[in-house]
Amino acid sequence: MGKDVIIACDFPSAAETFAFLDKFSEKKPFVKIGMELFYAEGPQIVREIKKRGHKIFLDLKLHDIPNTVKKAMKVLSNLDADIVNLHASGTVNMMKAAIEGLTRPDGTRPLLIAVTQLTSTDGESLKNDLLINEPMEKVVMHYAENAKKAGLDGVVCSPLEAEAVHNRCGADFLTVTPGIRFPDSEVGDQKRIMSPEDAKKAGSDYIVVGRPVTAAADPIAAHERCLREFVD
Ligand code: C5P
Repeated sequence: MGKDVIIACDFPSAAETFAFLDKFSEKKPFVKIGMELFYAEGPQIVREIKKRGHKIFLDLKLHDIPNTVKKAMKVLSNLDADIVNLHASGTVNMMKAAIEGLTRPDGTRPLLIAVTQLTSTDGESLKNDLLINEPMEKVVMHYAENAKKAGLDGVVCSPLEAEAVHNRCGADFLTVTPGIRFPDSEVGDQKRIMSPEDAKKAGSDYIVVGRPVTAAADPIAAHERCLREFVD
């Protein structure tokens, strides 16, 4: 898989998701299914979107004891998603268990990536809410190294950290980066943001773009703008 733009389909129902996806007649965008849609519609939504020809990043951010995550990943491995994820803060043992669970009997598995720190978390909340007194960059790098150590394929991180993650964990260690905003789009609750163009310069492998595409007056044009600025 090469560089691509992943659209975060943060919709509350299958009907709204399909109404959105139906706008994309020819090119089938890579889509991210998150908690809202998955909890509303269940695993069937993954199968249906896959059947329509989209690649899928199933963003459920698992975080529990290793045995529970392993069993949950085993179930998810049947859904044929292309990428799944978990929280690196669940520890190296949890991540190793996740890989075991995700690996199918024939040895194949979806890509597995770890959330380092949410892009909505800033240095202040890291310190005051999570009681982590290290700088954000150090925490992100440490979690990325833990993910690599556990055998994962990459991390979800801010595009601001993509270059440093590659330097530390290798060029082929994937950086999947949300927190993308056009210079002229609303920032919303995101804090560590970058434009598609700058994310490309920073070396992100995939950008995850939600509201700048889904809430755009012309989502097709917004998606094409992302592709033009990030991939071309
Ligand atoms: O609408 P917006 O572009 O902010 O959407 C970003 C998407 O990426 C959301 O679905 C959010 O849950 C997800 N995400 C994130 N930060 C992370 C991991 C996932 O924003 N660290």
